[in-house]
Amino acid sequence: MKNDAMNFFSRTLMYWHQHQNKREMPWKGIKDPYKIWLSEIILQQTRVDQGLKYYEKFVAQYSTIFMLAAAKDEDVFKLWEGLGYYNRCKNLLFTARFIVNEMNGIFPETYNDLLLLKGIGTYTAAAIASFAYNQPYPVVDGNVFRVLARFFGNATATDTAHGKQLFTQLANEVLDKKEPGQFNQAIMDFGATVCKPALPNCNSCLLNKQCMAFANGWVNKLPKKEKTVHKKNRWLSYFILEHQQKLLVFKREGSDIWQNLHEFYLVETDEVVVWNEALVQQFLHEQLNIKNASIQLISKVFNQQLTHQKIKGQFIKVVLSTIPKVLKNNQWLSVNEVNQLAFPKFINQFLEEKETQGLLF
Ligand code: ADE
Ligand code: SF4
Repeated sequence: MKNDAMNFFSRTLMYWHQHQNKREMPWKGIKDPYKIWLSEIILQQTRVDQGLKYYEKFVAQYSTIFMLAAAKDEDVFKLWEGLGYYNRCKNLLFTARFIVNEMNGIFPETYNDLLLLKGIGTYTAAAIASFAYNQPYPVVDGNVFRVLARFFGNATATDTAHGKQLFTQLANEVLDKKEPGQFNQAIMDFGATVCKPALPNCNSCLLNKQCMAFANGWVNKLPKKEKTVHKKNRWLSYFILEHQQKLLVFKREGSDIWQNLHEFYLVETDEVVVWNEALVQQFLHEQLNIKNASIQLISKVFNQQLTHQKIKGQFIKVVLSTIPKVLKNNQWLSVNEVNQLAFPKFINQFLEEKETQGLLF
């Protein structure tokens, strides 16, 4: 049963999709299971902007499953070139031929039958079943994990069996059972364009009134992951927020690096973010509802090589005239108090810079 928050979530997401979703992609709205399958397999290999041209090339050359099944292996591999992980491409060919030879070229029409096909897992089966046949199965990809974890304020790690099960169940509960295809498209597009990994548009987000992450200042802490070692490059943007000579400081917890050490307000991204004044103002407005903050410094890029990770990032010093609501209950400490705390070397490097000393102490 959906509770109030779930109802609000589903309704609002569908409203957003119907009235405000501007994302255009060639496979959107298509009912041909072959093309949906093709697009989803390609998108498992690459980002949407890269995937577009592969999708266009494939449907131009093989517009039906019969044509793909009849293709020479090498020709298909050639089209796949650059996507990597050739097993996916082999499975694509195998399954195309299997459907043509064993099933008269007719794609299976139920989720369970789709799952039996080589190379089709729960995600792809749900995508095809919902987009092509409007069957009520939720897609659960990185976008979906992120939107659900943030809106419902759930810190369960998404890279664990338990987390996957929990978020799949939640996705199933919020799924619009009358329009599952539309809903699945809505939540993926929403995650890609509004509730983005870095710098989501919280202030203008239709879900913000009931979003737990937004209400509690958890937007940049969710979704949680358990394993971090596999991430080789990490980009940390630290906001040093000052209000009436007090600085906002957090203690690091959990199993990640720098346990029990202290830090400032962190925005972590997988990719480089090049901060400038306009982007800092936009970020402060979108996520903390701060307007016209006084930006004192956007630092140079700092580096630190750890055993398994290369850390890079920047520090941004901002003076606030009021404390945003979501940060009221956090620790705001005087410089003397901050001086007593232990920080990771990455942050100390910055604090020890001459440039910084003039600003903070
Ligand atoms: N990523 C993978 N499949 C997608 C789809 N159908 N729409 C948006 N993003 C996607
Ligand atoms: Fe995502 Fe922010 Fe909207 Fe919450 S308010 S759903 S975190 S974009």
